[in-house]
Amino acid sequence: MGSTVTFHLAALESSSDGQEPSLAGHDYGAITQLLHDDSISEVMVNGPDQVYIERKGQLTLSDIKFASEAELIRVIREIAAFVGRRIDDESPMVDCRLPDGSRVNAIIPPLAIDGASLTIRKFARDPFSVQDLISFGTLTAEAAGFLEGCVKAHFNILVAGGTGSGKTTTLNVLSSFIPDNERVVTIEDAAELQLRQPHKVRLESRPARIDGTGRISIRDLVVNSLRMRPDRIVIGECRSGEALDMLQAMNTGHDGSLTTIQANSPRDTLARLETLVLMSGVDLPQRAIREQIASAIHLIVQQSRLRDGSRRITNITEIVGREGDTITLQDVFLFEETGLDGNGRIQGKLSPTGIRPNAMAKIYSRKVAISPALAALFPDRKAPDYTLGVRR
Ligand SMILES: Nc1ncnc2c1ncn2[C@@H]1O[C@H](COP(=O)(O)OP(=O)(O)OP(=O)(O)O)[C@@H](O)[C@H]1O
Ligand SMILES: [Mg+2]
Repeated sequence: MGSTVTFHLAALESSSDGQEPSLAGHDYGAITQLLHDDSISEVMVNGPDQVYIERKGQLTLSDIKFASEAELIRVIREIAAFVGRRIDDESPMVDCRLPDGSRVNAIIPPLAIDGASLTIRKFARDPFSVQDLISFGTLTAEAAGFLEGCVKAHFNILVAGGTGSGKTTTLNVLSSFIPDNERVVTIEDAAELQLRQPHKVRLESRPARIDGTGRISIRDLVVNSLRMRPDRIVIGECRSGEALDMLQAMNTGHDGSLTTIQANSPRDTLARLETLVLMSGVDLPQRAIREQIASAIHLIVQQSRLRDGSRRITNITEIVGREGDTITLQDVFLFEETGLDGNGRIQGKLSPTGIRPNAMAKIYSRKVAISPALAALFPDRKAPDYTLGVRR
């Protein structure tokens, strides 16, 4: 993605001055109404005649068309121009954001064979809260209580899942559990996280200029963040060599860090992380990498976009240690599908597996306040049991 360029928008920054970022004042052609419709989460344009939208997890082909390929390219050029970019033969793809914070990718022919393509991930004006995710069925109140306890007890957590499975949204919700008195540094390629904590520093990477200079990578920012006295480091997505720096940070006293990774199962997450560490260019034996992973990462939250379009957490998995060269995993919560309802929607529940997580000992020893439901599920073994009149 050498020539892809991400830009920092002055218009987006105005939100920190209390001014609402807005889409006003620009001409988005045929898709204008889609961009203003808050019920639409994604707009995907495949050439002038096909505009797909996603609403409530469902992809549909809209009846909207651009007048011509030239008109579609005009809109793409205009979007790129808002952030001082051009899109042409020399730089035929662009990553940027709309003034309201929506994430945009555009790619034009000849790279896009069947016509210019424009993909817009709409900015969530009112980001999903943990209550929203519970009401969507993404997780249960019990599982949310467990995750809240783990975040507050400074667990290092990976949110894993496929593209568009809801990783960033879940990361945002997990970050909302970080207590207000902690200093949070967020590191992203394009700022999407919306932390409500007052004490935060947001960092954004910068791709190389056309002449190849000026690149500041996620990795550079992770290294820099260690000198910023962070209580927490939240990395939007780990997709390259920064994985090694992140693991080292986690292993050297920066517990409580959170990130996302593209992977399809907890076991796959470990393999992916190993590959990313190798991408750092530091020549480490596999055994040493696994040691680092096993001691750094405490929990994997596995997310999926199921075939009915719903986003679900399918596993909440602890890393419990190593047996020889194999990292041992233990599911604490697991989603089990029970069937389909009348509308073809997948039924099922993210239920506790019955295994008592090792995490609870740390949650109790750190005196993290937990919900009564979680305490009932996993009682404190060291606490006196007054119901029996004796200490167990
Ligand atoms: N739990 C959820 N339930 C329903 N919709 C969700 C949920 N989580 C996220 N979404 C919606 O799904 C889309 C993708 O979400 P998000 O950006 O969090 O995914 P992602 O896995 O980080 O994607 P990417 O791989 O592109 O980074 C967004 O439009 C978001 O509003
Ligand atoms: Mg994401």
